[in-house]
Amino acid sequence: MKNLSIKDLGGAENFKDMHNFKRDFKIAPSILSADFARLGEEADAVLAAGGDFIHFDVMDNHYVPNLTIGPMVCKALRKYGIAAPIDVHLMVEPVDDLIVQFADAGATYISFHPEASRHVDRSLQLIKDKGCKAGLVLNPASSLSLIQNVMDKLDMLLLMSVNPGFGGQAFIPHTLVKIREARALIDASGFAIRLEVDGGVGPANIRSIAQAGADTFVSGSAIFNAPNYQEAIMAMHAELALA
Ligand code: DX5
Ligand code: ZN
Repeated sequence: MKNLSIKDLGGAENFKDMHNFKRDFKIAPSILSADFARLGEEADAVLAAGGDFIHFDVMDNHYVPNLTIGPMVCKALRKYGIAAPIDVHLMVEPVDDLIVQFADAGATYISFHPEASRHVDRSLQLIKDKGCKAGLVLNPASSLSLIQNVMDKLDMLLLMSVNPGFGGQAFIPHTLVKIREARALIDASGFAIRLEVDGGVGPANIRSIAQAGADTFVSGSAIFNAPNYQEAIMAMHAELALA
């Protein structure tokens, strides 16, 4: 499409309202790629730039080979004044203690990898009992059959389009097939489950990811490594408007 400036589009909020209400697309900037020394300002900046959720990657150096941030940081963001939904992606094992801690720290969504819990149904119920929205995360090699018996407890299905652990990796193309299958499964279930995709998402591929059936898009390096966050996010909303 031709290059429109944010001004042409009437500002970030108008543009989002105009184009995305029909399918309720959400962009979730991943603060994994933010400047951790200025995390509050960075979260504010991506929300002001048109981000919808703050995607919060929790890594324990056990389930994944990297170590990031915990519930204290989530609480600190709330205290700083971040009011947007916080979308906690647990890459930890086990999960139950941290579910409770993140719920108490102000998380909105809490999602975990089913392989990291002995009792997936119980962990999902724990998230809901704590008043949060519950999600499961599937790695590229993990089967959709893992969600089959718990769909009534899901608010979110997060499909990894990279192997978890690091930002800045390339989108694995086979994910598009899995997104289509997941979309069919969700539609057939009749449950209101968000379909989120995480890893290697940016302006160049977000439209095809949406066309495959996703409605929620995690994006880290494509936003935080861009010279202008608003331009990066608006470029993605512009692609979504064409999906
Ligand atoms: C990877 C994380 C992602 C990551 C995405 O394990 O779950 O959320 O931050 O980063 P990009 O968009 O750079 O692939
Ligand atoms: Zn993530």
